[in-house]
Amino acid sequence: NFTPNAFVEEVVAEMKTKIGNDKVVLGLSGGVDSTVAAVLLNKAIGDNLYCIFVNNGLLRKNEFQSVLDQYKGMGLNVKGVDASKRFYDALAGLDDPEAKRKAIGKAFIEVFDDEAHQLTDVKWLGQGTIYPDVIESVSATGGPSATIKSHHNVGGLPDFMKLQVVEPLRMLFKDEVRRVGRSLGIDEELLGRHPFPGPGLAIRILGDITPEKVAILQEVDAVFINGLKEHGLYDKVWQAGAILLPVNSVGVMGDERTYEKVVALRAVESTDGMTADWVHLPYEFLMKISNEIINNVRGVNRVVYDISSKPPATIEWE
Ligand code: XMP
Repeated sequence: NFTPNAFVEEVVAEMKTKIGNDKVVLGLSGGVDSTVAAVLLNKAIGDNLYCIFVNNGLLRKNEFQSVLDQYKGMGLNVKGVDASKRFYDALAGLDDPEAKRKAIGKAFIEVFDDEAHQLTDVKWLGQGTIYPDVIESVSATGGPSATIKSHHNVGGLPDFMKLQVVEPLRMLFKDEVRRVGRSLGIDEELLGRHPFPGPGLAIRILGDITPEKVAILQEVDAVFINGLKEHGLYDKVWQAGAILLPVNSVGVMGDERTYEKVVALRAVESTDGMTADWVHLPYEFLMKISNEIINNVRGVNRVVYDISSKPPATIEWE
C-alpha cells in the first residue's frame, strides 16, 4: 500500500546518504516525472542540484517560456537553454522515425553535455525515470521489439558523460508519481499535465521536420489542448495531441479549391500508458475544434479523429 509521505521521507533520506555533498545535474522536460524527481532531489541536496531545461524547438506553443517561469517560481535552480536551431539542423532531411529519434537524442546529449561541462565537479546525473520506462527498456535490450524504445536512456549513458545515475522514481507508476508530487506541494496544473514524448512534436509530424511544419502543428495543438481545457475535458484524458500528416487533400476557401494538409487529433484514456483506448469526445466538441482549426490555421484544410486503441495501435503515430 503506497503512501506518498512515507515514500518522500524514505527516498530523501536515502539520497542524502547516497549523494552527500556532491553535485547533481538533471534535465527537466516540463513534464511530471522530471519535475517531481527534481523537487525530491532539491529537498535532499538543495542548491547542489543543477537543472537544465532545453528548448529543442519541438515543444508546444509558448511552452519553453511558461514552463521556465513555473520552475523559477518553485525555487529550483534551473537554466533554460534555447537550442532549437541545433535540433532543426540535426533533423534536416530526416524522415525515418527512428532516425529522427536518434538525431534528437544525440543533439540533446550534446547540448546537455556542453552545459554540464560548464559546471565543475558534477558527479551525478538525476533522471525522472519511472517504472514503466524501466520495464520497456529491459524488453528493448533484446528480442523482437529491440527498437521499440530506443529513446529511453535507462542504465546506459554515453561514456563521455561519466556520471553516476540517480533515479528517485524508478519504482513508481505515473499515478504514484502524481501523488508524490501532490504531497510535495507541486502545482496541480503541472501534476495534471498530459505525458508528452521527449522527441516532442517531431514524432507528431510524419515525415521530415521543418520549422514551418512545427509552427503549423503548434497552432493546431494549441487549439485542441486549450479547447479540451475550456470544455472541462482535459483532466478526463490521459494524453492528447495533434498529428500533422504528410497528406494533402482538397478543400475550399472562398471560391477557390485548396490542396492542403490534413491533421489527425488523438485523445486517449489509460492508466499507465501501456494500453490505451480512444476517448469518446463529444461530437459537438469535435465539430467546434475542427472548425476552429480549419478557419484559423493556415495550411490545414481537413481534420480527422483517430479512433484506434493501443494495442494493436500505439498512442503516437510513429
Ligand atoms: P506509444 O506511442 O508507444 O507511447 O503508445 C507510449 C507513451 O510513450 C510516449 N512516447 C515517447 N516518449 N520518447 C519519449 O520520451 C519517445 O520517442 C516516445 N514515443 C512515445 C508517448 O507519448 C506515450 O506517452
